[in-house]
Amino acid sequence: MTVAYAPGKIILSGEHAVVYGRPAVALPVTQVRAQATMEDAREGQGLVIEAADLGQTIIGREEQASSSPHPLAMSVFAALGYLGLSAEQDLTITVRSDIPIAGGLGSGAAVSTALVRAVAQHFSRPLPAQEVSRLVYQVERLHHGTPSGIDNTVIAYEQPVYFVRDQTLETFPVGRTLTLLIADTGEPSSTKEVVGAVRQAWQRSKHAYESLFDKMGEIATLVRRAIEEGDLVQVGGLMDKNHQLLQALEVSSHRLDSLVQAAKDHGALGAKLSGAGRGGNMIALVTPDTRREVERALLHAGAERVIENEVKAAAENDAAAVSPAAPARPDEGLP
Ligand code: PMV
Repeated sequence: MTVAYAPGKIILSGEHAVVYGRPAVALPVTQVRAQATMEDAREGQGLVIEAADLGQTIIGREEQASSSPHPLAMSVFAALGYLGLSAEQDLTITVRSDIPIAGGLGSGAAVSTALVRAVAQHFSRPLPAQEVSRLVYQVERLHHGTPSGIDNTVIAYEQPVYFVRDQTLETFPVGRTLTLLIADTGEPSSTKEVVGAVRQAWQRSKHAYESLFDKMGEIATLVRRAIEEGDLVQVGGLMDKNHQLLQALEVSSHRLDSLVQAAKDHGALGAKLSGAGRGGNMIALVTPDTRREVERALLHAGAERVIENEVKAAAENDAAAVSPAAPARPDEGLP
């Protein structure tokens, strides 16, 4: 039996603008994870994927015949194909995840990553993060339209990333431990729909939107520098500015704004929505002194769940620069 995992993720800065070529900063969230368990099955059974959380059983042969196979099956087929193996395998795979679905925490990319890793491990052909990321990106593309590639990248590398599409991935050291609270509005957020709505608005007023994306990109670069320097007050202020720009992009929601305000009113250094928006999760940067108070305030303001995520300073957690031989997402032009 083989078991593989993958974490969730948050975008600390630069969502949406990243689709249009600006930089973004994302962090892995290891407090939640997707898990894929793989077992050899009796001969002739074929591939069966049990997605317990979705209440679905996915049959490999049916998906192979389908014009739009299920993303879970696609992830397995992509990994098998990459390893030069037939899709006709007698395998039972069970997928579980405690990453909220449609919450901006990368649940789809995490489940795909766990599946790709499970296939690679099961056939004793472990894959480097760059290849896992590339395979997951292929699946993301089929189901999310024009993803930037940031979700598959941060989840496959499991490190803080400074991401610019079509460029070599950079990770960076964290100067001072970051403590983030991640609060769920309980409203589902469809990445595909929100990204599509932003695209329509961009098409109508390119000049205004490009200027918003420029500002978001500048903030992402400053956020990275402030994280490296351990200047948490600066990181917080930049998160606040980023949230205002996301409001201008019309991807916030009443609930997201109330949670952001509650966090700020109770001592968070900064707060913003994270991911596609119009629902899903928001994040608040806190300190050991304020985290309990902010958590209480978020729950009181209606958050369905609050997760605490710590990203340790480089001294505690050796972050090294990653220099893949090729861009993390090499095959796409800008939208
Ligand atoms: O998957 P989500 O909801 O965390 O959003 C991904 C971030 C976007 O920038 C909105 C889209 C993308 O592909 O980068």
